[in-house]
Amino acid sequence: VAADGTRVFALDARAGATEFTAGVESDTWGFNGGYLGPTLVADRGEQVRIDVTNSLETATTVHWHGMHLPAAMDGGPHQMVEPDASWSPAWRIDQPAATLWYHPHPHGETESHVARGLAGLFLLHDEAERALGLPGEYGVDDVPVIVQDAGFSRDGEREDPQRGYAGGLGDELIVNGTRHPYFDVTDALVRLRLLNASTARTYAFTWSDGRPIELIATDGGLLEASVALDHVRLSPGERAEVLVRMTPGETVMLQSRMTPEIAGLVPAVAATNGGTDAFDVLELRAAGDLEPGASVPARLVEIVDFDAADVATTRHFELGDGFEINGEAMDPGRIDETVTVNTLERWIVENRNAVPHSFHVHDVQFRVASIDGAPPPPEMAGWKDTIFTEPETTYELLMRFDDYADPSTPYMYHCHLLWHEDQGMMGQFAVV
Ligand code: C2O
Ligand code: CU
Ligand code: CU
Repeated sequence: VAADGTRVFALDARAGATEFTAGVESDTWGFNGGYLGPTLVADRGEQVRIDVTNSLETATTVHWHGMHLPAAMDGGPHQMVEPDASWSPAWRIDQPAATLWYHPHPHGETESHVARGLAGLFLLHDEAERALGLPGEYGVDDVPVIVQDAGFSRDGEREDPQRGYAGGLGDELIVNGTRHPYFDVTDALVRLRLLNASTARTYAFTWSDGRPIELIATDGGLLEASVALDHVRLSPGERAEVLVRMTPGETVMLQSRMTPEIAGLVPAVAATNGGTDAFDVLELRAAGDLEPGASVPARLVEIVDFDAADVATTRHFELGDGFEINGEAMDPGRIDETVTVNTLERWIVENRNAVPHSFHVHDVQFRVASIDGAPPPPEMAGWKDTIFTEPETTYELLMRFDDYADPSTPYMYHCHLLWHEDQGMMGQFAVV
């Protein structure tokens, strides 16, 4: 923390090596290390500054996914950091407690920069969350679970996987950069912060013993109440916080068990695009005696609905064939939409493809008002910045672009299947 109260972080993007397999090094990139980056933690109301340096031999960016901040601080393709250069975005945190993340966003290169290892978590806390007494001891009962898929050669070196419609799908999972991970549980109640940091793969998280998965938060913060689900589906870029109650000595496996139905794919396409894949994700091993752990109130936070009567502008976004939105591929020199600051917007996102996409909007957390005219399920009723958009389905999103106007610097909306984004499935909006 600097003298003026600013919380300062340092991130250095660099090339390195990682031993995913004992004794076998793979070339990787990381922030401040060989793979992934440190978890950044800040409080609502704090002023933050991140001193980003680029020690790679190629230009990159760092984007703060899910963060409400000025466009010039967003770290999109217009804020490139050249090799040996630095960049110090700063802003005031003003949004609810949430599991956000950061990753590069260089135009046309995002998939490869993320796949090499450039990604990390950015956790926000606030008073309302603290008052709930949720598990909050980082690495003890509040545990980051960054899920990625990867390909490995026979001798254990990481290699780029084959591409399906969504992009590269690795045939193994790594969690926080670790193959075959497990976690030693010492508290009866554990909070897992799941981030799908994969470039293309969508997961359906479940427990191996069939217990329901208890969801408490989505991309932009806590739900009004926890929901017990059969599975939690996360497409690339999405996050979920889940609670799990352990008994002394027990072992349970977090798994992903995808089905064509959950994947939104017809069986023939699903079979070759990850739509039938099952994986072990993370094993939890409880100690013989456990700390009692918190008891979580039935009500978590209050989420005030937007009033649709306040909508100032309705826009349509058609995810069409090819890698286009509204019939156009991304052009960094074109601003597609101009939004008026401090007004409520309705974005109608229609997936007209036979395959799903993952739709993400910068700067805001939005609410899903309806899906094909029906209210969203509870897991989509909270704050979201990225959604899995099923084929032939229409999503009505409500969002406000508050505080920051900048006619010359756009934000992005795009498919978060990173290969699609790189191919141009992205547009730009300016807030004026
Ligand atoms: Cu997570 Cu525009 O990105
Ligand atoms: Cu983003
Ligand atoms: Cu897509």
